[in-house]
Amino acid sequence: MMLTGSVIAIAALIMLWSSVPTPGSPLAQLCGALGALLLLAPLAFVIMKRSGLTNSPPAWFIGHVLATSLGTCLIFIHVAAGDWFSPPGIVLLLLVFLILQGSLLRAIFSRGFSLLFARNSASTGFSAPGTLDKAALQTVIDAKTQLLGTLDPAAEEALFSPALKHWLRHPWKSFRYLALAEREARMIGARASAGIELGWSRRIHMLAALGFYLGLVSHIVVVLFFAGYAADGGSIDWWHITDWGG
Ligand code: HEM
Repeated sequence: MMLTGSVIAIAALIMLWSSVPTPGSPLAQLCGALGALLLLAPLAFVIMKRSGLTNSPPAWFIGHVLATSLGTCLIFIHVAAGDWFSPPGIVLLLLVFLILQGSLLRAIFSRGFSLLFARNSASTGFSAPGTLDKAALQTVIDAKTQLLGTLDPAAEEALFSPALKHWLRHPWKSFRYLALAEREARMIGARASAGIELGWSRRIHMLAALGFYLGLVSHIVVVLFFAGYAADGGSIDWWHITDWGG
C-alpha cells in the first residue's frame, strides 16, 4: 500500500512537471519502452509460478511488485503530455485499474499471496454445511481422481490444481478438472462469501491484464509500423520502422 501511495505521488508530481516531453519525443519514448519492459515482469512472474520453474515465488513476487512500480513511473513520464482520451489511453486506463485493484486485493485479503491466488479447496479453509450430499460429492471426487490419472498420474487429488504445463499439454482436460474442482468447492461451501468474491476479483484482474498486454502490443505495432496513421497527418517525430497508414 505504501508502495502504491508512492507511485501515485510520483505520478502526480510528473503530471505537475510543466515542460514534460511529448510521448513521441526521444526521452518519453525511451521511458515508454523501458517502462513496458519492466511491466513484463508480472507476466514472467505468473509463468515462473505456474510452471513451477522457480523455488522462491516470494522473491519473484517482490521483484514483480518493484518492477511494476518503477515501470509505472516511467510510463507516466511517457504519457504525461499525451492525449488520454485516445486508443493508447485505454491501455493506460487498464494499467491504472490493474494497480489499484491489485493493491486493494492485497490490502483487503492480506492473508498471504498463496491464499489470494489459491485454487485448491484444501487451502481455502472451509466448513461443510449441514446439507452436504456425500454421495454426489464422492461422484465428483471420483471423476476428479480418474481425470487426474490421465492428466498427471503422480499428482495428489486433494492438492492438485492445473499448472501451466498441464494447460499447454492437456487444455481440455485441465479445463474439465477445474470445472469439477469448482463444483466440488460449491458443494462443500468452500467458496462461501469472501471466497466467491475473491474468485471473481482474480478473474477480473486476469482479464484486465490480458486486455492490457494485448493493447500494449497493438500500441507498439501501431507507433512503430503504422507511424503515419498514429501521426494522423502531422509529422512523425519519434523513432519508427515504417510509416504505413499515413
Ligand atoms: C504501458 C505502456 C504504454 C502506455 C500506457 C502508453 C500510452 C500512450 C499514450 C496515452 C499516448 C498518447 C496518445 C496521444 O497523445 O494520442 C502514447 C503515445 C505514444 N506512445 Fe505509448 N504507451 C505505452 C508504451 C509505449 C511503448 C513501449 C512505445 C515504444 C515503442 C510507445 C510509443 C509511443 C509513441 C511513439 C507515441 C506518440 C504517438 C502519437 O503521438 O500518437 N508507447 N502512448
